[in-house]
Amino acid sequence: MDQALAGGIAVLDFGGQYAHLICRRIRALGVYSALLPHDTPLGELKRMEVAGVVLSGGPASVYTEGAPKADPHIFEGTLPMLGICYGYQLMVKAHGGEVVRADRREYGRASVKVVDGGGLLDGLGVDRLACWMSHSDSPARIPPSMHVLASSESSPYAAVKLAGSPQFGVQFHPEVSHTEKGQEVLSNFVLGVCRAQKNWSMQSFLRQSVESLSKLDGRVLCAVSGGVDSSVTAALLSRAVGDRLRSVFIDTGLLREGEGEQVRRFLGQELGVNVAIVDATDRFLEGLEGVRDPEEKRKVVGKTFADVFEEFAKDEGPFAYLAQGTLYPDVIESGRSTGPASVIKTHHNVGGLPAGLSMKVVEPLRELYKDEVRELGTLMGLPSTVVEKHPFPGPGLAVRVVGEVTREKLRICRESSRIVERILGEEGLYGKVWQAFAYVGDDKVTGVLGDERKLGYQVTVKVVESVDAMTADWSRLDPRVLERISNAITNEVSEVVAVAYSISSKPPATIEPQ
Ligand code: XMP
Repeated sequence: MDQALAGGIAVLDFGGQYAHLICRRIRALGVYSALLPHDTPLGELKRMEVAGVVLSGGPASVYTEGAPKADPHIFEGTLPMLGICYGYQLMVKAHGGEVVRADRREYGRASVKVVDGGGLLDGLGVDRLACWMSHSDSPARIPPSMHVLASSESSPYAAVKLAGSPQFGVQFHPEVSHTEKGQEVLSNFVLGVCRAQKNWSMQSFLRQSVESLSKLDGRVLCAVSGGVDSSVTAALLSRAVGDRLRSVFIDTGLLREGEGEQVRRFLGQELGVNVAIVDATDRFLEGLEGVRDPEEKRKVVGKTFADVFEEFAKDEGPFAYLAQGTLYPDVIESGRSTGPASVIKTHHNVGGLPAGLSMKVVEPLRELYKDEVRELGTLMGLPSTVVEKHPFPGPGLAVRVVGEVTREKLRICRESSRIVERILGEEGLYGKVWQAFAYVGDDKVTGVLGDERKLGYQVTVKVVESVDAMTADWSRLDPRVLERISNAITNEVSEVVAVAYSISSKPPATIEPQ
């Protein structure tokens, strides 16, 4: 990743919630950008030949003990720099100014008046901008070496420039979409001030990845699930190493409908990926017999997956490499984080590398975000049905069948979910929601069919909207769409007599029922 930063922009991560977003916005300008630890030394930045550096925002106060700091040398030289919010306050402090805690926090929209373009705010075509603010601290006095480019009512030093140096600070957040002309401000900095190289595009990423992956010597094993990340990983490796890639699709019996068939058709036949399909349904379902506790179910699925995978690897091996579809946010969240405030999420994916296998891990997507992976998949010819697919939990339907996992409940859950997806697709809503499925438990409710009363299952439909799955809200679907879903499920899935719609957000509920 370091090498890729030559001519690009390093974003030093001070823990701000928008730190990722800065990278994405810069990449949208065609310039490569990545998050680095907040204390990355100047020498290292120079060795990487970065064109400039952005200091992200962060939740700390610059005078607080233990507050994250930058290498003091980065403020001294001529390295182009843009400090945002906390990053800006660090610059003010480093140059002898003063930062104070404001009486009132300033959150939300503020009108900022541009008094001098200074290279950063040039060519915006307006002299007032609606900018997004989110801070408690702000500079009370800027050093004589800084001069004001813009001010707002609460922030007289809303944007500044350091005299004689390509270093800027802004109190507002140019990276959020609520800031008017924010992308132009970033572009002024990245392309105008830093003269960064515009060599980031999915096409160039694809070319470079295939070139570097083709140098792997030895055989590569990749588990595919039918989801977008593993499908793109396998397609990429297949292009790079051809027959030396062996991918395996383990059918756990807990998957969405048609997953195996899709893998066979799109990865196997159309993209020519060498895929083995292993049907381990019986093994998984036997392991789950009598198990009701959700955590226990996860353990059984994880362990069975690892066993089946290990057997396959041993039978078909040896393999020098294991390819995984790890994405950039996973890298950040799984402890290999850059910043002081990154949340460590428990990763509940099944699999992992079984202890008995020794393979080097290859993660070709580790620099990408989900939307970039989708773009790459499209570029490589994966169909939209694969590329646009909703996320699916590793333990699969085992966490959508509440109580014991039986073949009957699995079928009800699978068929009802397929109906939910089909109708959302027909209504043009599938791509607009985060996840949409149905889940089922054990309790039966009374229904009436013709003149006959009949006990049957009640399924609960969940359709949620989210940006990162950390929080989610239920989708306010039109009652007409809900009615279509309900009717279709009760008509097509004979064991179901009633349909409920979940109106819980996360928190307090989670997206998956278990
Ligand atoms: P929750 O249910 O925690 O889910 O709100 C957040 C997101 O993660 C997915 N999810 C899982 N993914 N293994 C996974 O690989 C799991 O055990 C698991 N549980 C939840 C879920 O589908 C949602 O997108």
